[in-house]
Parts: sequence; structure tokens; C-alpha cells
Amino acid sequence: MTRKFYITTPIYYVNARPHIGHAYTTIACDTIARRQRLLGADTFFLTGTDEHGQKIERAAQAAGKTPQQYADEISAEFRKLWQRMGISNDDYIRTTEERHKKRVQELFRRIRDNGYIYKGTYTGQYCVSDELYVDGAQPGDPCPTCGRITETVHEENYFFKLSVFQDKLLELYANPEFIRPETRRNEVISFVRSGLRDLSISRSTFSWGIPVPDDPRHVIYVWLDALANYITAIGYGSSHAGAQEAFKKYWPADVQMIGKEIVRFHCVYWPAFLMAAGLPVPKAIVAHGWLLFEESKMSKSRGNIVRTETILDVLGADALRYFLLREVVFGQDGSFSFDALVQRYNSDLANGLGNLASRTLTMINRYFKGEVPYPSPSGSKVAADDVIAQTARKAIHEFGILFDQFQFSRALETAWGLIAAVDKYIVENEPWSLGEKHDTESRARLATVLYTSAEALRIATALAHPVIPDATAKIWMQMGLGDIKKLALTDLAWGQLPLGTKLGEVHPVFPRADKSAVERMQQMEDQQRGPAAEESKEPATQAAATPAAVKAQPAAPVTAPNVATDGKITIDDFAKIELRVGVVKVAERVPKADKLLRLEVDIGTEVRQVLAGIAEAYAPETLVGRKVVIVANLAPRKLRGLESNGMIVAASLEGGKPVLASFLEDVPVGARLK
Ligand code: ME8
Ligand code: MG
Repeated sequence: MTRKFYITTPIYYVNARPHIGHAYTTIACDTIARRQRLLGADTFFLTGTDEHGQKIERAAQAAGKTPQQYADEISAEFRKLWQRMGISNDDYIRTTEERHKKRVQELFRRIRDNGYIYKGTYTGQYCVSDELYVDGAQPGDPCPTCGRITETVHEENYFFKLSVFQDKLLELYANPEFIRPETRRNEVISFVRSGLRDLSISRSTFSWGIPVPDDPRHVIYVWLDALANYITAIGYGSSHAGAQEAFKKYWPADVQMIGKEIVRFHCVYWPAFLMAAGLPVPKAIVAHGWLLFEESKMSKSRGNIVRTETILDVLGADALRYFLLREVVFGQDGSFSFDALVQRYNSDLANGLGNLASRTLTMINRYFKGEVPYPSPSGSKVAADDVIAQTARKAIHEFGILFDQFQFSRALETAWGLIAAVDKYIVENEPWSLGEKHDTESRARLATVLYTSAEALRIATALAHPVIPDATAKIWMQMGLGDIKKLALTDLAWGQLPLGTKLGEVHPVFPRADKSAVERMQQMEDQQRGPAAEESKEPATQAAATPAAVKAQPAAPVTAPNVATDGKITIDDFAKIELRVGVVKVAERVPKADKLLRLEVDIGTEVRQVLAGIAEAYAPETLVGRKVVIVANLAPRKLRGLESNGMIVAASLEGGKPVLASFLEDVPVGARLK
């Protein structure tokens, strides 16, 4: 019977456009799914979008759209990007789809009928950005995950009896395969050991969600809704026989890949929900680290994102896939930079695999009329030929082991170790010199050297295929081997390259990138991003966004037809500055800083901490409840050890006295100024 393999990415929030942090998770899963297909598994690979909840509702509001419109647009962007990248997902689930909503309600009923849901009142702190109940926090406390100020929630909710699952969960974690890597497993174990509180699983103060069955004043907690996608997509809760079959076949999942910041939801809540519903738990939850850019986690709110499209335009999808899996030690955080990307691309892809393919195949064309030559059976064979064969055998063996332990970087290292060995072998054996001679012995030796090189190339290409599918498919065709998707990885061994195979047309798969590639990508990104962080050190200037302060931003590279002249900025430059209406929730003095106030400003999508140099002009208590204008996409910076996330706009009078910008008419919180 065919082995099945079910793998999932998290479903992506639709409040942010896709960036390479998201692509990282998807690429890792796509690579695993592709390898499993080549190993003969009946593979199902799921991804999709997470579209309900307060965070999305507010983001939509701020964008002046209905939540559904807003979700439709961004979900489509993710889908389009994955298609462009050739991601091989078998389904794409959206939590606003009817099939999902019905099945989530079914799951809720099941858990309720099993006695794990009761009604209660929740009073406590909530982080809207993470959609997380923060136990034990006080009003004004930051979220332990993202550092944003939590909001106080007081409402009647349905509760899930999470507390009764403590022992069962600990039993589950006894299996070291369930949570990987080990560091995450230890974190989860100590979290659960310290005791679990029951969890609120509904909200009643907003409506963007799936109604609780029989009590539509409540919507189901967005994490219960979202986590359920992993089973609703494959047919859980459906009455169709086909869907039920699929669920029976694919559940439990073999690998659920996530980022480290959502470990608690996946390793604690998710298995508890499943157990409460009487369903099997997944076989493995695998957490990767963060992709950092400019030293912090790449994220929309920090504004330090790199769009995938830029890299696709300049270097192609394979370059990004290879870089992320080779450069980042899986499970740990890794830094992204355009320099490192181009360097890796040139050294490993253009000069490594690409060069090996073109030199080997070109010589077979030249010396053997494009047919894979017959190696000499014995006589002219030397030890170096066997070394390559041994290196290849070892690479096949180790690549599989390392890859299946999610050690992608080390797996790729073994395959590229083979490439380096063959490069050296070619240099030492000088096939081009052998090609000059026409005696039988030289011809036999040349045949062996080129056969050995081509066979090693075939093996490196086969191993690398799940990681760099496009280029390897091309090399496979060039080698005359047909469709690489038909490759059976389980049987891969040295010596299978059919002798006399007629090569296809040979052309380079990874053209070298020159220095301008870095600049081009950087420019493309700068054009997309808002103005760079304001450099001024003086807190008082934070309160004054005069046109002069705007002009002081490093000018974005400009292209026709929007070229600005004589020191003016274009409308496009101005559009990069996100000015929004906010309302002050909290205002207090900052100890030992005469001019500085610490404000918490609700800007509709979230509550921001902003430090403003207005303490000499405004008493903190006069500001609470006041509407202000804030530069919402200013890069965060630290003042007196506190993070300031945005800037309050004020007129700067003579002597520096600030006067806050305000409106005569009533304006909604979150409204954009343009
Ligand atoms: O968490 N580096 O969605 P999300 C690495 N909707 N990975 C990153 C990253 C970065 N800088 N930024 C994002 C959610 N990711 C929920 C999941 S699942 C039932 C619900 C990755 O859009 C990270 O893997 O905030 C994270 O798990 C995933 O994007 C989705 O993030
Ligand atoms: Mg996130």
C-alpha cells in the first residue's frame, strides 16, 4: 500500500502582504512535499489564509474596506505569489470559505458535546496582534510575544477546559518526535508543567468570525477557527463520502511546520482541541526560527520586509529557495541580506552546480557527439574515479538522513560536497587535454572521466531537485533524462546513467549575477518601502513633522515619470508616509526626561507606544482620549530604553513649543491622512 504524507504550513494572516519571511515557511514545506512525492508517498500539501478575528477586522477598517473585500485581496496576493513561485500545494484553504465555516462549527459542537466547553466571563489582557489571551498580565502590560501593549477585555465567553489536558499533553511530549527542535519542546514542557488555565474560545464584542453554533452573538476564537483549517481542508466535519475518505486517509498530519512564535498555539491548544474532539493528534510539529533583516524579525509592523517578487524578478525562485535552506540553520534565526544572497547564488549555483552541468555536458557534446560515453570497464580506471563514486554514494545516504531530520543546510552541504569533489576531479584529470589526443588509451580515459562527471552531476541534480526544482528539471532534460518528476528517489544509486543517452540542448541554467544585482534589488525594495528611520537624536523633534523634517528623509530612488526636481518630493514620495488618526489611551511622564511623554495610541489596527517630546507643553492627563495624528510607518527607535513606534505630528512654534495637530470635525480612529 502506498504510504501517505500530509504536510501543512500555518495559514497566513491577511493583514500583511506576503514577504520572504512567509515564503520561508512555504518553501521549506514545498521542498519536503516534493521530496516525499519523489519517494513515492501519496503526498498532500496544504497552505492557505487566516482571515477572521479582530486584527483583520481592524486592518480592514483602517484600509476603508469591508473585512471580506480586504481578505479577498490579500488572500489572492498570497495565492498568486505561490503560483508564480511554482509552489506545489494541493489545496489552498481560506477560513472565510463556507466549507471551512461549517466544519469548524461541527468541531465546536463536538467538543461541546464531549463536555469540554462552558460559559464564563473573561476579564484580562489580550494582544490583538497575536490574538492571544495574556494570562496574568495587568492593564498596560506588553504582550510577552510581540511587545505591543495588551488591551483589556471584559466579556462573557465560552471557555474550553484546557486545564484538564495537562497530564495528557505532557504524556504526548514524552515522544521526542512530537515537537521539534528540542529547545521548543523543552519550552512547551515547562510551560505546561507550570499549569494550564482554561481558555476563552469565543469573543462577543466584535463580529468578524464564525458564529458559535446555537449562540450567534459570539464568534469562535480565531485561533480555534484557524487551527481547524488543518482538518477542515481535508474533509473533517463534511457529510460527503469523498471528503470523509480523504480525512480518514490523510489525518493525522505527518508534519505541521510553523514559526517559533506560534508554538504554544500548535503544541498546546491544538492537540488539546483535537483530544477534546476525540481526534488523533499530528505526528510532528516542527518549528523554524525567524528570518531577520536589518537585525530584527522581518515583519510588516517593523517595516523591514523584503518582497519575494524582487528576488524572483532578478535571480529567480530557485535562488531564493536554495539560499534560505542553505544559509539558515533550520530551527534557528537567520539573517537575510542581498549581498549574502548574491554571493551564495554565484558561488553555489552559478559557479557550482550550473558550471558543473555546462562544462560536463559541453564536453560530452564536443568529444562524444552529445552521447553519454562508455566508461572503460577496468584497465584505464583509476582510484580517483572510485573516490567520486564513493562520495556520491555517501551523499545519497547522508542527504536523505539529514533532510529527513530537517537539517536542510547540512543536507545541501553534502550534495555540494559532491559537486566540489567532481570539480576538483575534472581539474585534475584535464579532460580538455585528453580530448586533444587521439590514441585509444586517451579516448578511453576521457570517456571514463566524462561519464564519471556526468553520473555525479545526475546524482547531485536528483538530490537537489526538491530544493531547486526549476533548474534541476532543466539539467535533467539537458542530460537527456526526460521529466525529472518521474525520478524514483528511493532507487537512486551510482551507475544508473544509461550509456549512450543522447543529450538535449545545453544552455546555462544559472547565469552569473554581477554586482548590480544587489543594487537593483535594493532599489526595487526602497521604492516599495516608506521613508527610512528618522535619524534625529533629539526627542523634542519627534513632535514636529514639518515639511522640512519630511524632506530630511533620504530621498528614495526615483524613476521617470515621477521625478522630483528642485528639492521637491513627488506625490509618490508623500504617499509613502502613512499618516493616521489615533486616540491617546495612556499618557505618562518618562522618569528623568523632562520633555518626554510615553503615550499609548490606538490607531485602529493596534495600540502603539509612542514617545513624544511634548511634556513641557501638555500635561499627560489632558491627552487621554484626545485624537492625534501619527506617522504610522516610521521605523521604531529607542528613546531612554523605551521603544517609540511612530511619531505624533505637531506644529513647531518659535522656541520649539509643539502644538498638536487636530481636527475640527469628528474623525474616526485609524483614518488615513492624504
Ligand atoms: O501566525 N521569519 O500567521 P502569520 C520567518 N495566522 N518566518 C516568518 C517571518 C519571519 N520574519 N514572518 C512570518 C500566523 N513568518 C497565524 C497562523 S495557523 C493555524 C495560523 C512565518 O501570517 C512564520 O512561520 O503571522 C509564521 O508561522 C507564518 O509566517 C505565518 O505567520
Ligand atoms: Mg505573525
